[in-house]
Amino acid sequence: MLRVCTLLVLCGVVFGAHHSATTTTTPKPRTDHQIIQDLEHENTNLRRDVEYMKRNVEDLTRQVMLQQTFVEERIRSDGSSGLKQVRVHHAGTRPYYTGDFADSSVAGIHEHSSNIRTIGMGELNVVLNGVEFRTRHNDYRLRMPVTDDKTYNKVKDIPYPDVPPQVLNKATVPEQVAEMREWFKAFKNQDHSVRDYRKYFKPVLCYMEGGWTTNTKTLEEPFFSDRHFIDASSWFDLQDKVRYTSYSGGKSNLENFAYLPTTIMNVVNGTPEYAQWNYRIVCHPLNDDLPTNVFMLQDDLTVRMSRGLKMDQVNNTRLARYTLRARLTARHRDGMSYGWGLLDDLMYQIPGKDNYGVNITDAGLGLTLYDIRQSNPLLPLNTANYHRYYKVEEKDAMGQKNVKRGFSDPNLFAAQTTSAHISPLSMTNCEKHRDQTTHHMVETCTPITERYTWAIPLEVIYMTPLLKWNPYNLHHVYASSGKAIYDVVHGPNGTRNGGLNPEKAYNGTHNKAFYRTPAEFFSTTKAVGADRADTAKGSVGVLDRHGVVRNTMASGTRIVLPAIDGIGRVRTRYPIMPLHNDGNPTKKEVDALKDMVMRMPTYSSLFEEEPTTVSNANALHASQPHLLKVAQTTRDPPGLHSHDVLITQGDIDDMKNGDVIKGLLTSVDNSHQHSIDIRMNQNDEFIIDSCDGMSHCWDGHDNHLTMEY
Ligand SMILES: *[C@@H]1O[C@H](CO)[C@@H](O)[C@H](O)[C@H]1NC(C)=O
Ligand SMILES: *[C@@H]1O[C@H](CO)[C@@H](O)[C@H](O)[C@H]1NC(C)=O
Ligand SMILES: *[C@@H]1O[C@H](CO)[C@@H](O)[C@H](O)[C@H]1NC(C)=O
Ligand SMILES: *[C@@H]1O[C@H](CO)[C@@H](O)[C@H](O)[C@H]1NC(C)=O
Repeated sequence: MLRVCTLLVLCGVVFGAHHSATTTTTPKPRTDHQIIQDLEHENTNLRRDVEYMKRNVEDLTRQVMLQQTFVEERIRSDGSSGLKQVRVHHAGTRPYYTGDFADSSVAGIHEHSSNIRTIGMGELNVVLNGVEFRTRHNDYRLRMPVTDDKTYNKVKDIPYPDVPPQVLNKATVPEQVAEMREWFKAFKNQDHSVRDYRKYFKPVLCYMEGGWTTNTKTLEEPFFSDRHFIDASSWFDLQDKVRYTSYSGGKSNLENFAYLPTTIMNVVNGTPEYAQWNYRIVCHPLNDDLPTNVFMLQDDLTVRMSRGLKMDQVNNTRLARYTLRARLTARHRDGMSYGWGLLDDLMYQIPGKDNYGVNITDAGLGLTLYDIRQSNPLLPLNTANYHRYYKVEEKDAMGQKNVKRGFSDPNLFAAQTTSAHISPLSMTNCEKHRDQTTHHMVETCTPITERYTWAIPLEVIYMTPLLKWNPYNLHHVYASSGKAIYDVVHGPNGTRNGGLNPEKAYNGTHNKAFYRTPAEFFSTTKAVGADRADTAKGSVGVLDRHGVVRNTMASGTRIVLPAIDGIGRVRTRYPIMPLHNDGNPTKKEVDALKDMVMRMPTYSSLFEEEPTTVSNANALHASQPHLLKVAQTTRDPPGLHSHDVLITQGDIDDMKNGDVIKGLLTSVDNSHQHSIDIRMNQNDEFIIDSCDGMSHCWDGHDNHLTMEY
């Protein structure tokens, strides 16, 4: 509408100029006939001008559309679908001190374990099928698409696994704790001979799905988070805000802006059809158990070099990134190329925008797409589910051909949908065939229209029985109970802060104060001192139904669980997101070189000249890294969290000489970090001397640091 008016105004100006020009050159009054003739002439000119402009606007609009195609094509050949960059917090003396896909953690993953269903994940810069975009702070929830209901983006909570009856049958809490530990031991050792943990430790695959949507008017929240939302009133407003922060280099303090591009999908009779990019993170409960030996730790040297970490040290941090083995049965082969693999089996369980329970077959380009795993008989591929391979039967050649989606993209999973919320793309497909009666070759052309979305896997999360276990039978206050939840649990004036006495203990739990696991379940060896230990472990007091204070810890999902006596640490989140750089030729060459250099004996035959060994001097002593942990705090806001700080042996030697190490930046947790100065006291303990310029951190961390390694 706006565009038509603009044209008329423009034409009005042209008309006016033309009119005044004719009157000045012909002062003699004109006859009616002349006036009509002149007007008709002008009218014809006007029409011609409007036609000309319409055509030009249409051509220009089309060119703008092709510019987007050009950018996407360029990005597609530069790299693959995958994670590109996270928000960084450090500069450094070498480029690798600044994070890429990992800064404090890979993909900015963190914990909100005191929330019942929240999975912490920061802001990400991602490429999906050539579309580059930036997310808000994600903090997604353990939710899945619905079944037999095609409602766009409709999700439901993923049911949590049960607590083994062998645990529930125990009479006392200490006995339950002891039995529960045995189940975690079985899971950690992947030994289901005595206790079949597979029924109670359930893997879910969380994935990021993106597509061009038709709703360009009102802002659509990509997916619910109980901690973050897009802070803008419309797409237009969001674009302005993101452009402002990119221009100034600033950020939305709560990390609630996203860069989600808008494009022109089509130009119909001069009118552009716009589409808005949107994405979401959802999860899929896997059909079967997934043994943890399918995860291969990736050697990300940027991460290791900047922190001096050994491979086995990375394994238990938030910096670890994994890829899936090619197949369940390829347990002992690290490197191989493959077609349809384990990841394809898992992703093919996941539906696109039509949700679970829908079958779509694609014969768009005249050939039906088949499942590449089956030949006789052929099985049509259900393109409603995410896949990256298909095969077609070539009519004349009598052969079958396997096709991988995407020209050069190894990580492109696509799914078809019928949802009107996804922008379709059309083309005309013409085929020649011989007419049965006339025996002439005839061509039939059919328009085809299809809607696709794309996805990449993000992580596998093992849900554990801790999510449902409530051995103290603590009262859980639900939002629907109609009470002011906060007042009940935290006391009317927030007087209850989780302290270990009846006045300070929380009165029950709620979805954002989800503390139900007995503190004794985890080992207490890391405690700094008797009374400080309670906050250091992140344990809180909660009143049970009889008013007895119970010492509990957060029961929500964690990345790596705190150490359990006799078992150690158990990882429950395995990031497996592919990287944009995976598709970059230089990265491929560097990775090949890295494997050769890191495993010289294995690949010795590939060297052109025999490598000579470097002497194993102790020169690295001073740069030997150490990880200090800032004591956990339960103060809310910002919620249960701690931070990591990396120092070197050199720093420790300096502190032993009485120096204060200044300006160390902690890891980013719960959307903030601290700048701390540390020193050593007479007992060789590490003490925060100053936190953000104050004697104590604003959010209540204890000043004692614990050394992890
Ligand atoms: C990483 O940890 C897993 C499980 O704890 C273990 O099986 C694997 O061997 C470790 N990998 C490395 C490289 O340390
Ligand atoms: C989809 O196809 C599969 C295999 O062909 C079949 O088992 C299933 O019942 C179909 N589902 C629907 C909803 O048609
Ligand atoms: C809460 O605070 C208000 C105002 O400060 C005070 O009047 C009231 O007594 C307090 N209530 C409790 C239970 O402490
Ligand atoms: C704790 O909350 C329950 C309601 O959930 C209430 O009946 C009880 O009186 C509260 N206890 C205390 C000590 O405030």
